Amino acid sequence: VTIAGVYNIKGGVGKTTCAVNFAYLSARDKRPTLLWDLDPQGSATYYYNTEPGIGTSAKKLLKSGADLQSVIRRTAYPQLDILPADFSYRKLDIVLKRAKSAKDGLRPFLEPLSRRYGLIILDCPPGITLLSENIFHAVDVLLVPNIPTTLCLRSYVQVLSFYRQQVLSLDRIVPYFSMVEARKRMHRENVDFFTRKLRRMCRHTIPYLADIERMGLVRQPVPHYLPRSAAARAFGALWEELRPRLFAAES
Ligand SMILES: Nc1ncnc2c1ncn2[C@@H]1O[C@H](COP(=O)(O)OP(=O)(O)OP(=O)(O)O)[C@@H](O)[C@H]1O
Ligand SMILES: [Mg+2]
Repeated sequence: VTIAGVYNIKGGVGKTTCAVNFAYLSARDKRPTLLWDLDPQGSATYYYNTEPGIGTSAKKLLKSGADLQSVIRRTAYPQLDILPADFSYRKLDIVLKRAKSAKDGLRPFLEPLSRRYGLIILDCPPGITLLSENIFHAVDVLLVPNIPTTLCLRSYVQVLSFYRQQVLSLDRIVPYFSMVEARKRMHRENVDFFTRKLRRMCRHTIPYLADIERMGLVRQPVPHYLPRSAAARAFGALWEELRPRLFAAES
């Protein structure tokens, strides 16, 4: 199994949008995939037409012995399950605080799931909290969408330095650009500069497109409702690039 988080300290950079579409593309590859909506806002849950609420508290969920079968839901798509958001996730930090260390927080919970799925993708809330720290320890790969603005890239560097203190290997961080507006000169320049400067930066980017924003109305992943659109092609191309970095065996 590969456990991947879609994370940025900043809000509104396209994390949920990407997590929703990557999860769909992974399942479409016929890989059993679980999307865990860790954000109490529940946007990923909403996009998949799933009711929020897990019927138990985050505390009970993370304790071994929680009945995972009853909290995980099927989606409308083959191979794709979702662990919905729950309002109690706002207290995840308190629950995780009781773990001996950040390593013991989420990992043991994900362990039994790892036998059932080829990819577990976490849609992370923004911010840099104890939950983020636990996520950094639990994931194999951290996917980091960035809007190509100066402030967003500055926060990316902040995350990097924090991560370096917390966890050893930086090879597990995979940054890419999202919500790129080609007509904005600063966006073009930042994409060019950082794609050349940062070895780990993905070559493919997600443009800012009305078809992607419409996902909120349609409540379906973009490659499903508009399979031949530029938006779907962008997610497809980035996903192709991510695949070997997520699944070493497929490289
Ligand atoms: N590539 C894109 N083109 C156009 N609109 C986009 C794109 N990506 C995301 N959006 C829109 O921008 C808003 C924020 O996106 P999203 O919810 O994915 O960000 P987020 O990083 O998950 O936010 P949060 O930090 O609140 O969880 C949403 O309204 C979404 O529809
Ligand atoms: Mg989000």
